[in-house]
Amino acid sequence: MKKTFTPKLSPRLEGIVSLLPECEKVADIGCDHGYISISLVQRGIAKSAVACDIKAGPLEFAKKNIAKSGLTDLIDVRLSPGLNKLSEGEADAIVIAGMGMRTIAGIILDDLSKAKAADYILIQAQSEIPEMRRFFEENGFTLLRNKLMIEEDKYYFAMLLTSKKEVEEEYLKSLGGGLKRLKERLTETGPGPEFSEFAESLDEYFGLDLITNDGDMKKYLGHVIGEWSESIEKISGAKKPDFEKMDELKKKLAMAELALELNTLFKK
Ligand SMILES: C[S@@+](CC[C@H](N)C(=O)[O-])C[C@H]1O[C@@H](n2cnc3c(N)ncnc32)[C@H](O)[C@@H]1O
Repeated sequence: MKKTFTPKLSPRLEGIVSLLPECEKVADIGCDHGYISISLVQRGIAKSAVACDIKAGPLEFAKKNIAKSGLTDLIDVRLSPGLNKLSEGEADAIVIAGMGMRTIAGIILDDLSKAKAADYILIQAQSEIPEMRRFFEENGFTLLRNKLMIEEDKYYFAMLLTSKKEVEEEYLKSLGGGLKRLKERLTETGPGPEFSEFAESLDEYFGLDLITNDGDMKKYLGHVIGEWSESIEKISGAKKPDFEKMDELKKKLAMAELALELNTLFKK
C-alpha cells in the first residue's frame, strides 16, 4: 500500500498544533507549506480545514503536500488575504502562525467579526509578544493559554484565545480554573493594589501560566535578563545616555527577575 505523507513538525509547529483543542473546521491563515492544516486533520484535532495564503506560490506548495497526504477532500485551499475568503462562522478555530505581530493585528482588525465568530483563535507571532497579548485583550479576547517553544536556540510563543464567554468557561474548567484563577490567587494573596497591577504586567510580558508551569521559562528568562542587562550597561556607557530607554529596560529587567524567582519557586 502507498504510504501517505505525514509532515515532520519542528518544535515550533509541534507546539502550535498541540495547543489547539478539538474542533470541527480550522482556518489556517498564511498556511505556506500547509503542515499545520495537514497535521491538525491527520491527528483528528480538526475534522476539516481551510488553508489560506495571500500568495499563489505557497498555496501551490500547500496543495501538493495536501494531495500527498491524501487529504484533498478534507482541506480546502484558498487564495486569500487574511480572513477575506472565509465566511463568518465557517471555521470554529482560526490559526495564524509565523507572522509578525503587526501583520496579525491587521488581519484581525480587517475582519474582527469573523475572528470573533470562531470559538478559538490560535496565534504564534514572530515578534512583539507582550504587544500581541495586549492587542487581543484590548479587542475583546481572553487569553486561555500560552505556550513556549524552543527551536535552534530561538524562543517562540503561541497563545490560545477566545472572545466567547462560554468557551472560556468550558476551557478554564478543564484546567481547574487555569489562568483566571491563578491571577485571582496572585492578586488576592498579594500585598495590595500595586501588586495586582504588577501581576497584570507580569502576565502581559511573560504569561503567568508559563511562569508558574513551564520549566523552559528558566532558560528564556535567563536569556532576556542577560540581553537586557547588557543593553542597560551599553546605554549607561554612552556619551549621551537614552534615559527613557534605560528606565524602560530596567522595569522590564525587574519583571524578568521576579518572574524567574517565581518560576524557580513553582518549578523546583
Ligand atoms: C513564514 S510563513 C508561516 C507559515 C506557517 N503558518 C508556519 O507557521 O510555519 C508566512 C506565510 O503567511 C503568508 N501571509 C503573509 N501575510 C498574509 C496575509 N495577510 N494573509 C494571508 N497570508 C499571509 C505568506 O505568504 C507566507 O506563506
